[in-house]
Amino acid sequence: MSADKKRLELCNAADVAPGTALKIETDGLVLAVFNVGGQFYVTDDACTHGPGSLSEGYIEDDVVECNFHNGQFNIRTGEVVSPPCMVAVRTYPAMVVDGRVTIEA
Ligand code: FES
Repeated sequence: MSADKKRLELCNAADVAPGTALKIETDGLVLAVFNVGGQFYVTDDACTHGPGSLSEGYIEDDVVECNFHNGQFNIRTGEVVSPPCMVAVRTYPAMVVDGRVTIEA
């Protein structure tokens, strides 16, 4: 872990059921925590296209569809799956430590 990164605890893993997402605001970040089949992934909550909130989007497998203009992102990589989004959403490597979803940011 480099000196300018810190570990942030986001939520209890049990609080995010498989196939759902939770919005977390911490340390100046607004994040979406996703549970994809028991694996946790964290992205910025803000859609890169506009005012959409990805934690409020529609999730199917590892794709989230923005609730605003229906653009789609891959939850694991942040890559755009479907327009009108053009820019990948930022992702944060997530791990579960003592039952808490944790990132380094
Ligand atoms: S704001 Fe998300 S697709 Fe436009």
